[in-house]
Amino acid sequence: MSETQAAGRPALFGWEFAADPYPAYAWLRTHEPVHKTRLPSGVEAWLVTRYADARQTLADPRLSKNPVHHAADEAGRSRTGIPGERSAGLMTHLLNIDPPDHTRLRRLVSKAFTPRRVAQFAPRVQELTDGLIDGFAGRGEADLIHEFAFPLPIYAICDLLGVPREDQDDFRDWAGMMIRHGGGPRGGVARSVKKMRNYLAELIHRKRADLGDDLISGLIRASDHGEHLTEEEAAAMCFVLLFAGFETTVNLIGNGTYALLRNPAERARLQQALADGDEALLDTGIEELLRYDGPVEMATWRYATEPLRIGGAGIAAGDPVLVVLAAADRDPERFACPDRLDLARTDNQHLGYGHGIHYCIGAPLARLEGKAALATLLTRLPDLRLGAAPDDLRWRGGLIMRGLRTLPVEFTP
Ligand code: HEM
Repeated sequence: MSETQAAGRPALFGWEFAADPYPAYAWLRTHEPVHKTRLPSGVEAWLVTRYADARQTLADPRLSKNPVHHAADEAGRSRTGIPGERSAGLMTHLLNIDPPDHTRLRRLVSKAFTPRRVAQFAPRVQELTDGLIDGFAGRGEADLIHEFAFPLPIYAICDLLGVPREDQDDFRDWAGMMIRHGGGPRGGVARSVKKMRNYLAELIHRKRADLGDDLISGLIRASDHGEHLTEEEAAAMCFVLLFAGFETTVNLIGNGTYALLRNPAERARLQQALADGDEALLDTGIEELLRYDGPVEMATWRYATEPLRIGGAGIAAGDPVLVVLAAADRDPERFACPDRLDLARTDNQHLGYGHGIHYCIGAPLARLEGKAALATLLTRLPDLRLGAAPDDLRWRGGLIMRGLRTLPVEFTP
């Protein structure tokens, strides 16, 4: 069945869908909650859209993350939404592997990438946030994606990893290439990924001889039952931390700011709470923004390793399954008034960071950056407003991530 044939269902994919996929997801949840579709790439995959099915599917060990299980895996396409990883030999990372390898690598990275390390990083995140806002605060207008949401996470993760400051603009350029042209191991993207891989391999090698207290040194030191990461595993780990942690956080800041600007009463409530020195609404608010219009539209690919049923649909061995987090997190069976942004929502076990063994390992860092970014913006630029009509904004295409290409804003300098 082609995408336009299903009676009454809004089209999946395309520009209009990218601007507001929620009506199409509501239709699927009601009429065909586990739906087989042909993706724009031509690959067929199942979309899981109800919260209960989504949560169960994310934790189902019969679904593998390893692309070797894809019945029709063709042409070395990236399966995580991370462009160029296969051509650069960076496939052995958390999002592409299953237990027991996943368990071993996750345990090792967890020893180095601890909530404590992230908490100690808070002053630096605040300094970066203020520095970026200083860059445009006097101008009265800015593109918040390019000048704020994009550089903040890349500099933050570079600092955390221990990439020297003088090299961080190279990372900014490589990451910019990937976010603009992501989706396949082609041309400039592939070159950027290779440059980054080579740089990381060399940096890891250097750090091994001269350990510091950065995350790369932590990864090299980490041991579990006498086992360490190999240099190749350490490079793939740094790469996945950069990529899983970069565009996601750009989108948290971009989508989050946009949602606040479109919901003035909620934004005013948050601004008031911040002015009163009350951070509780910021804590619940950041989770609500993740639920309401989260950075990750679909969890990364999973493949059935045996025939199984999800929500009544029969999935064959080798079929790809995409869990649509954006649809699950608006399921009225789970969330009261799901299409309403309610920053004080407390019954909010959203799936924005995934669920199960692949649950986001960077969630504490994402929360730290998201909270610093939104609170500082609203406090320093209190009359921040959209600088373009919502219909004129463009969303980046792509399956896994959901985010704006640009976010023009205006404010009193
Ligand atoms: C996994 C979301 C920020 C590192 C995931 C998954 C989701 C997610 C949904 C699970 C994917 C799946 O099951 O297919 C987000 C969101 C973020 C964010 C919404 C920002 C708001 C970060 C940051 C880092 C990071 C800042 C690190 C610096 C990772 C890694 C995994 C992961 C390494 C793979 C974990 C595993 O497979 O065991 N993230 N993430 N993420 N995330 Fe995040």
